[in-house]
Amino acid sequence: MIEFKNIRKSFDGRTVIDNASAEMKAGQCNLIIGASGSGKTVLMKCMVGLFEPDQGEILYSGQNFTAMNNKERTVIRKEIGMLFQGSALFDSMSVQRNIMFPLNMFTDWSYKKKTDRVNEVLERVNLKDTNKKFPSELSGGMKKRVGIARAIVLNPKYLFCDEPNSGLDPITSLLIDKLIKEITVEYNITTVVNTHDMNSVMEIGNYILYMHKGKKEWEGSNKEIIFSKNHLLNEFIFASDFLKDAKEMRMLEETGKIPNLRNADDRIGHSSPSEPS
Ligand SMILES: Nc1ncnc2c1ncn2[C@@H]1O[C@H](COP(=O)(O)OP(=O)(O)O)[C@@H](O)[C@H]1O
Ligand SMILES: [Mg+2]
Repeated sequence: MIEFKNIRKSFDGRTVIDNASAEMKAGQCNLIIGASGSGKTVLMKCMVGLFEPDQGEILYSGQNFTAMNNKERTVIRKEIGMLFQGSALFDSMSVQRNIMFPLNMFTDWSYKKKTDRVNEVLERVNLKDTNKKFPSELSGGMKKRVGIARAIVLNPKYLFCDEPNSGLDPITSLLIDKLIKEITVEYNITTVVNTHDMNSVMEIGNYILYMHKGKKEWEGSNKEIIFSKNHLLNEFIFASDFLKDAKEMRMLEETGKIPNLRNADDRIGHSSPSEPS
């Protein structure tokens, strides 16, 4: 679990994070959502110690990270995996060397043990036998998966993903979300995802923190978001008229006022397998 309490961060006298608090649990995807410039990345950087907050504290499994010295923080840092925006792979290194990088930094394992671990995580992200490829030979979705493999290679307790879907098409985005979610549950990781992707919110948002101009405006789950009356949140999430209608439909479904038709196969020209053709 990660908690942060009353985090404030300013740059040159301008407050960018204003008294934000939240509690993010293990084994679930904790989303920080909000418009561009609302403070998601700054908040995440405060959480991992890349920025020092002006005020407030961050706790990892109850331990006060903010009060720790550098040596104490290293222990926590080893338990943190990060998927950076745009994957941030080293272009001059093969897939294998990219993934091995954290192992070289933080372990004294033999080459054999490191290679075995690289193969294990590559298999987990469905990229078996891509060890020798270079980032330039990979698609956007594959690069993200290599980024995920590198982020989990040290078996992190905490995983941070900043805009994991940026630059990906909707289908690939869903696959990446699904992978992040599966890994989170499988290894009981406290996962924090920055996003402004509405699909991610609905698909993986166990806990959602909505930031507006540096302040926590709303928090809740993807179930609760359907019923939220928060005006700013609704304008942000359900921006188009189409999505506003979809929200109303889902509300009616959830309250049993209309049947749930989402599992029915209603694609044009597509008969369901049980129907005679
Ligand atoms: N290193 C920095 N120095 C000064 N201002 C910054 C710095 N990093 C971010 N900001 C400002 O903080 C605000 C929030 O930025 P950011 O957290 O990157 O937004 P988001 O990730 O939600 O798009 C923006 O106004 C941005 O210009
Ligand atoms: Mg950002």
